[in-house]
Amino acid sequence: MSYILSIESSCDDTSAAVLHDDRLLANVIASQKVHEQYGGVVPELASRAHQHNIVPVVDKALRDAGIDKRQLDAVAFTRGPGLLGSLLVGVSFAKSFAQALGIPLIEVNHLQAHVLSHFIRTSDDYQPPQFPFMCLLVSGGHTQIILLHSHFDMEIIGQTIDDAAGEAIDKAAKIMDLGYPGGPVIDRLAKDGNPDAYTFATPQIQGYDYSFSGIKTSFLYFLRDRLAEEPDYIERHKADLCASIQKCIVSFLLKKFERAALKHRVRQVAIAGGVSANSALRSGIAELGRKHQWKVYTPTLQFCTDNAAMVGIAGYFKYLNGDFADIALPPYTN
Ligand code: KG4
Ligand code: ZN
Repeated sequence: MSYILSIESSCDDTSAAVLHDDRLLANVIASQKVHEQYGGVVPELASRAHQHNIVPVVDKALRDAGIDKRQLDAVAFTRGPGLLGSLLVGVSFAKSFAQALGIPLIEVNHLQAHVLSHFIRTSDDYQPPQFPFMCLLVSGGHTQIILLHSHFDMEIIGQTIDDAAGEAIDKAAKIMDLGYPGGPVIDRLAKDGNPDAYTFATPQIQGYDYSFSGIKTSFLYFLRDRLAEEPDYIERHKADLCASIQKCIVSFLLKKFERAALKHRVRQVAIAGGVSANSALRSGIAELGRKHQWKVYTPTLQFCTDNAAMVGIAGYFKYLNGDFADIALPPYTN
């Protein structure tokens, strides 16, 4: 039996969670609104906001969990990848907290944490995925097809060679002046649009790798030509544009993922990361599951975008292995 406090501060969300073994007792997330006015995360402001948020967020997580800090058995933290100034806040906090309590530290890789979020026991009858299974990890910084042989034996089958899927969606939103982060806005506006109104070419790329920079450029050039003729073109066609660019990105993601899953003959598949909140991706993977009789894991929304619960579950499996971190460990950005 273990109580683990986990900390996530790799980008612009300050989060703390408490897990009792694989069960989640509390998951507190403070999202930083300050970046919206700049159209993207400003690293300097992110680290300042983490500094402001970290103590109250941890305090609330412990109170929500209904435990005293002296009951904790370990502190897990995101070591990387992420923004250095952001990571340093969480890493330094975790180290000093663990030292003060005399308990072990556990370092967690942010990407592995996203994938392992499917092992958080959300109900008594919850059945986590069984190995091997394949996961499509899609976030603002990463796009990977991962074959899991065990909790920490993750084989990368394919990945983006340039932009991440979330980055491409955010850039498309920025072109349409929809604010930051654009993913949730595109998702919402797309619901009233026709996904077949426009087609944007997807690149021919070998194997199971992705490339998203060309899609963004063709979207940009297409709109530039239309706007030259009709300055209010985006305003008048916003829903169709959102639905079409979303369909383009989601179909490309799923087409390669389907081929990879068939090639590796997996029976269970999952999606993870911020873009796994996307409704078209969620319904698309569910449809693939029906087509191939795959068991499909889609994370609940609180586990899609950055959160400490996923860091806690990754930390729990490392705790079981006695895989503890040295106090001198620095964060890594890549
Ligand atoms: O995993 P995450 O919170 O941070 C990273 O590790 O990058 O992912 C953030 C990304 C952003 O690009 C955001 O626009 C995207 O996830 N996102 C979405 C949706 N919700 C968040 N993209 C499409 N549809 C959504 N509903
Ligand atoms: Zn993330």
